[in-house]
Amino acid sequence: MTVQVAAVRPARPDDAEAIAAIYGDGIDGRNATFVTTPPAAENVRAWLRQRGPFLIAERDGRVVGWAAVTDYSDVPAYRGVGEFALYVAAAARGGGVGRTLLSALCDAAERDGRFKLIGKIFPENRASLAVARACGFEEVGTHRRHGLLDGRWRDVTIVERLLGEARG
Ligand SMILES: CC(C)(COP(=O)(O)OP(=O)(O)OC[C@H]1O[C@@H](n2cnc3c(N)ncnc32)[C@H](O)[C@@H]1OP(=O)(O)O)[C@@H](O)C(=O)NCCC(=O)NCCS
Repeated sequence: MTVQVAAVRPARPDDAEAIAAIYGDGIDGRNATFVTTPPAAENVRAWLRQRGPFLIAERDGRVVGWAAVTDYSDVPAYRGVGEFALYVAAAARGGGVGRTLLSALCDAAERDGRFKLIGKIFPENRASLAVARACGFEEVGTHRRHGLLDGRWRDVTIVERLLGEARG
């Protein structure tokens, strides 16, 4: 029997508080993002109105993680390229939620006409690199000193996965 890790569905406006709280877990770890303050629920709701996809994972009726795609660039030729974000609640990590979410996000992005997803990952973030690899992403290279977090330079490794017709 296959045990379902978590149910995945599109995010709704009433998920905004849970999404912000889980984002806060990731921000607190200082290993996921240059962002240092979680957004207000209202800002998350505005984000949900943009082009996604934006998915959440639910277990026992509780939101345990989320994954979203944002546009990589305004340049028309890059309209099919998206950048992913992936956050799992601290208490739910290591149980396959991240992998389930990122895999579903790739499928949803492909259905939405995206031809590539990229991710920017701190090289120290072994969990995120492992999840990306498990979901078919390849490491393209590392930007050195790509930004300051708490006054310290951080490198950023770029991962990418081709989707749809770009897979050739
Ligand atoms: C990164 C994150 C999303 C991973 O989600 P998760 O639910 O813990 O990951 P999973 O349990 O689905 O693990 C998926 C794979 O990664 C591996 N992995 C997970 N955590 C790992 C770790 N700390 N070190 C090495 N490998 C790890 C697992 O072994 C698994 O590999 P497998 O499928 O081949 O067995 C989660 O740790 C998180 O939210 N971290 C904080 C926010 C963050 O860093 N987001 C990413 C920003 S780029």
